[in-house]
Order: sequence, then structure tokens, then C-alpha cells
Amino acid sequence: MEIPKDVLKLLNEQFYNELHAAHIYFGMSAFFKRSPYVGFAKWMELQAKEEIEHAMKIYNFLCERDAPFATSEIAKPKKDVYDSPLDAFKTAYEHEKLVTSQITRIFELANERKDYATADLMNWFINEQVEEEHNTLQFVKALEFAGGDKNLLIGVDQWAGKRAE
Ligand SMILES: [Fe+2]
Ligand SMILES: [Fe+2]
Repeated sequence: MEIPKDVLKLLNEQFYNELHAAHIYFGMSAFFKRSPYVGFAKWMELQAKEEIEHAMKIYNFLCERDAPFATSEIAKPKKDVYDSPLDAFKTAYEHEKLVTSQITRIFELANERKDYATADLMNWFINEQVEEEHNTLQFVKALEFAGGDKNLLIGVDQWAGKRAE
């Protein structure tokens, strides 16, 4: 079955939404690399790579379904410099919530159009978003708890640096 046109449009957009997310995380990683927070820099870099994997998942799906592909510009992140680690993770958490709404929209439309293969792929993304929101929110909470205490902040940074993939 061909991917319905309106579903295809959203899937194509989502490929760029995932690259945009990668763009945001690379910016954050580069920002932290110039700070004492090596753990956050590593975490953000790994997250950027994960977002590229998400984009590739959609790209491969589109190719497998013989769908026409439209190239597009990747939006620039809102900022390159963050006030604090908390500011960066709050931005990340808010952005993950936005991505969840993008994915949900594709899932709903795919079901409506009886494009269950796309709905199934989006189901994977919905579960992934639960994890992504959870991970970023955990850092928001930990950083709020740490406040201005440098020892606690470095503790949270070390925790972030333990991320393996
Ligand atoms: Fe993603
Ligand atoms: Fe994400």
C-alpha cells in the first residue's frame, strides 16, 4: 500500500523534526564542552546521535515503502548559549514534549487512513518519547534540587556522564 499523501507529508516533516532535535542537542553539547560540565556535554552528544538514529528510522521506512522523499531546511535552534544546565535541560524537556505531540499527530492520522504500518512505526516512537521525556525531566528535577550548590551540580554532571549510549 502506498503511504497516504497527508501521512507522507507528516512523515517527511518528522525526518527533519528529528534532525532539528539533533541540531538542538549538538548545540547544547558544544555549549557544555566549553564549560566545566563534561558529563552534560557527553550526554547531549549521545542524545544528538540518538536523534539522528530516529531520523534514519523514518528515512529507512520511507525508502522501504518506495515513498517519494522531499528535502527540506533544518530549523535553527532558538539559542546557542544557555543560562545554566537547568535552562538547557528545561529547553530539552519542553522540546521532547513538542516532539511527542508531532508523533501523536502522525499516529492518529495513520490510523485514520488505515496506514497501519506507519501507525506501528509511530507506536515505537510513542514509547521512545515516554523515555525521552522521562530522562530530560529527571535532569530538570535533579538540577532544580541542586540549585546553586556547585558540589551537587557536579554530582548531577557526573551522573549524566555515566550515560553509556
Ligand atoms: Fe527523536
Ligand atoms: Fe528526542
